Amino acid sequence: DRQPIIAIDGPAGAGKSTVARQVAAKLGLVYLDTGAMYRAITWLILQEGIALDDECAIAELANRCVIELAPSQDLQSPVQVSINGRDVTQAIRSLEVTSQVSTVAAQTAVRQALVKQQQNWGKKGGLVAEGRDIGTHVFPDAEVKIFLTASVQERARRRLKDFKKQGQSTVSVEQLEKDIAERDRKDSTRKVSPLKKAPDAIEVNTDGLSVNEVTEKIVGYYQQRL
Ligand code: C5P
Repeated sequence: DRQPIIAIDGPAGAGKSTVARQVAAKLGLVYLDTGAMYRAITWLILQEGIALDDECAIAELANRCVIELAPSQDLQSPVQVSINGRDVTQAIRSLEVTSQVSTVAAQTAVRQALVKQQQNWGKKGGLVAEGRDIGTHVFPDAEVKIFLTASVQERARRRLKDFKKQGQSTVSVEQLEKDIAERDRKDSTRKVSPLKKAPDAIEVNTDGLSVNEVTEKIVGYYQQRL
């Protein structure tokens, strides 16, 4: 038997990463950022100059690449990510990767390869996994399933804040709203495991809630379930 799993899904920018990291730290669970894996593959495809519609080459690459995730102890920083031994922690957050990742994540072979790895990592449980299809496909038997949402406006505002913190201020809030809406559209209309709330997931709208408030809510649901 395995330790419990918390699945957190939702659209881009709903605050999943920050909240999932904090929930994991509070409960002493491992944090698994599945989006980082799709981003890492996308980075490699761009790096190697493979065309985004060359499904064959992409499938081959997805099956032989080695992705490593090392959760950092610092709650504020994202996971350390490497692909084929190259540290891509920063690179996978670029606007270029962000705008292409949904096209790559829509491909069956890519999803098969990554989901297999995620399920392997999750065999023993004891984790908070975050993504788009965790409650529906990766860990359908997760003890707690959360579907995190927020309005497009709120999500764009949060992204802008993140970018400013990183010293990037060339992007406008209008552009971010457009990008987020487009990524939502692609992620929720794709054929393979589209972004969708699992029937047994609890929907949490984070508009106007602080990270701490959302974290407390999820920790509360978890404790009720045990
Ligand atoms: O969560 P994040 O924004 O880093 O995810 C990047 C992209 O990876 C998403 O827009 C989606 O296309 C893809 N993704 C996915 N399934 C997951 C996690 C992410 O398709 N479980």
